[in-house]
Amino acid sequence: MLVGGQGTRLRPLTESTAKPMLPVAGVPFIAHQLAIAAAAGVDHVVLATSYRAETFTEHFGSHAYGLDLSYSVEEAPLGTGGAIRHASSLLRGGPEDAVLILNGDILSGHDVRAQLAAHAAAGADVTLHLTEVEDPRAFGCVPTDAAGRVTAFLEKTPEPVTNRINAGCYVFRRRVLDAIPTGRPVSVERETFPGLLAEGAMVLGHVEQAYWLDLGTPAALVAASADLVRGVIASPAVPSAPGPALVDPAADVAADVVLTGGTAVGARCVIGSGAEVDGSLLRDGVTVGAGARLTRCAVGLGARIGEGTVLTDVVVGDGASVGAGVELRGGARVWTAARISDGAVRYG
Ligand code: GDD
Ligand code: MG
Repeated sequence: MLVGGQGTRLRPLTESTAKPMLPVAGVPFIAHQLAIAAAAGVDHVVLATSYRAETFTEHFGSHAYGLDLSYSVEEAPLGTGGAIRHASSLLRGGPEDAVLILNGDILSGHDVRAQLAAHAAAGADVTLHLTEVEDPRAFGCVPTDAAGRVTAFLEKTPEPVTNRINAGCYVFRRRVLDAIPTGRPVSVERETFPGLLAEGAMVLGHVEQAYWLDLGTPAALVAASADLVRGVIASPAVPSAPGPALVDPAADVAADVVLTGGTAVGARCVIGSGAEVDGSLLRDGVTVGAGARLTRCAVGLGARIGEGTVLTDVVVGDGASVGAGVELRGGARVWTAARISDGAVRYG
């Protein structure tokens, strides 16, 4: 699993926490990926880490969800292909064996076993899960021929030729990944895949349109958490049965608070009387004042939201304080430890 990126689009949330370690439906995001991989029959996972590498080891240790875990640590980030190559010395299989590789920020409901089976049946070198999105420009655009073979790999092209994109879950023949150059950054998307296609390698597209989300933006992170809490997508790692909210037992929520839309409330959060929190993600130690209304927000560790404040589609950094009677919306980001005074921002 590739978990070494810096998560820049998720700042300020990723200033203290690597993207794959951000809590999503009550557990670090990659816990869901690990549990889903285990359910698909995987028994050993190498985590390819770089940014805040130690936080992964400290949290998961050497076993989790019935998996053996190993850690590959890049001193300086090696890019997606470099990370795969660097991690390969820790893999257990032989040269012809299949290795499953996952971007560490993908929540996918696709059938991983079916992808592995398609790879084996075709005798492919690499098999990519492909999915269709409305706007492919932020992804790897991947056209295929009538037989399902990948014909090009166009990473983040402004002129996509198809809506089918790289969904960030690959099966590699072990010796193909061992051929990636060592000791320098390599992009699997910009260098390895185009190189394999130029050599005539058999790169297969496995199309499955299932639940799929890249958690690279705050809106996607919040949506993924809410979907997991509500059971729109299943993960064995969600700590409770599906419902409108997931509340840590060590949170203090006033009796008349309304929690809806798959809201997740972390440990030691305090939510005051009459507050309404919809489809939001509150990390540990967040205080929400009486009568506040939060919709689709992500709120960082120990942040404080004042009484009667209304936040819609807002990210609040760790330790930040938004005063009483404030209104913020539309993708606003309150930076780590920032202070917004009572009534300082309103609309209309
Ligand atoms: N170990 C390590 N080292 N991991 C890395 C590095 C690195 O240098 N750089 C990125 N990663 C990890 C990230 O943590 C993430 O889990 C994954 O690799 C992909 O990086 P992103 O930064 O999230 O890429 P993206 O979302 O812009 O694009 C990728 O994912 C799309 C699907 O969501 C590409 O693979 C696209 O082709 C694809 O469509
Ligand atoms: Mg991504």
